[in-house]
Amino acid sequence: MSTTSAPASTQMSPQTAALFEQYVIPNYKRFPLSLVRGEGSWVWDDQGEKYLDFFPGWGCNLLGHCPPAIVKAVQEQVAELIHVPNTWHMEAQGQWAKLLSERSFGGQAFFCNSGTEANEAAIKLARLHTPRERYKIITFEGGFHGRTWAAVSATAQPKYHDGIGPLAPGFVYAPFGDLDAVRAKVDGETAAIMVEPIQGEGGIRIPPAGFLEGLRKIADENGLLLIFDEVQAGCGRTGKWFAYENFGVVPDVMTLAKSLCGGVAGGAMLAKREVAASLRPGMHAATFGGNPLAARAGIATIETIENDGLLAAAEARGSLFRKLLEPLVAELPHVREVRQIGLMIGVELTVDATPLVQECMDRRLLINVTQGNVIRLLPAMTISEDEVREGCAILVEAIRSFKT
Ligand SMILES: Cc1ncc(COP(=O)(O)O)c(C=O)c1O
Repeated sequence: MSTTSAPASTQMSPQTAALFEQYVIPNYKRFPLSLVRGEGSWVWDDQGEKYLDFFPGWGCNLLGHCPPAIVKAVQEQVAELIHVPNTWHMEAQGQWAKLLSERSFGGQAFFCNSGTEANEAAIKLARLHTPRERYKIITFEGGFHGRTWAAVSATAQPKYHDGIGPLAPGFVYAPFGDLDAVRAKVDGETAAIMVEPIQGEGGIRIPPAGFLEGLRKIADENGLLLIFDEVQAGCGRTGKWFAYENFGVVPDVMTLAKSLCGGVAGGAMLAKREVAASLRPGMHAATFGGNPLAARAGIATIETIENDGLLAAAEARGSLFRKLLEPLVAELPHVREVRQIGLMIGVELTVDATPLVQECMDRRLLINVTQGNVIRLLPAMTISEDEVREGCAILVEAIRSFKT
């Protein structure tokens, strides 16, 4: 497959490129673009070029770049108190936990700084909560739970394990959507089932009807904890506060990060009160977890989503994405399927889609491709209809320009 030629991207400053070349570990595939400013769904590079961002902050900037309410909250807080340890109380952390608890299943929160950390906490809690002999956790093929040791071991994708084995023991993988396979893997050593209600990095995979309900049933029948990793799908992205609400299934434990603090680093694990008690003092911690900056940003994020009616906006904009992209399935043989729930959008091609990232960048649109053939869009809830139309027109043109 080849692409038609498009205007070349502006090149970034050679000084920045040289700094990376010399001093930054090259563990990321980076494009030659250096970003300096963002506002809403737009970012600017160091050459003054402007890009429409359909993947702001890798899913973290759910309110867009530099949302005013978050900027204000952080600016106020940074001048008052930046960080104090969890040896002490902080009103903002308590308030933040209350807001999250009231919008989810009424449990308690542990705060950390990222998704992988939230999942580490959930994995430890599952082992602490269940009898000693129970240590196994069933996870799902195509899932993604992070890069730290246990989280990457929980991630059932061999490409992330290559060369780093042996992995942390106790993770048992099952096909996503296959309840019989899950049942067959439960034994007397199983402690929990951990699943993304909607697989994100796995290609915006929405579970088949009845799958999450089935997992809840299996967990209840066997005394297992049901853990939902909502790091990508949670916090309003699907048009509901939490992705599980789309399926009417409540977990025992849920992990959050990415958009939790409107672009500021922050993570959380929420657990039902009776489960949370098993995370005994001294058994887990995160030095920066729930710090005043993150807490104020987290509170401002929740308030902005509610005050500005953004859950409804996420649903409406998501439907517009579907309306604009779905016709491609009938039009182009290399477009297999469009999957969308709120502002999680996946366009699956029958061919390698990775060149489209550069192709769209050349046309001043930022997107992501996951699993090689799925265009993944995680736009901001604040994106306007005009911006959705403008970006989709670019994307559609780029997909059409593929010569198979
Ligand atoms: C579902 C899910 N869980 C966990 C993670 C890891 O989060 P982080 O990169 O903040 O550690 C990600 C990141 O993409 C994710 O999508």
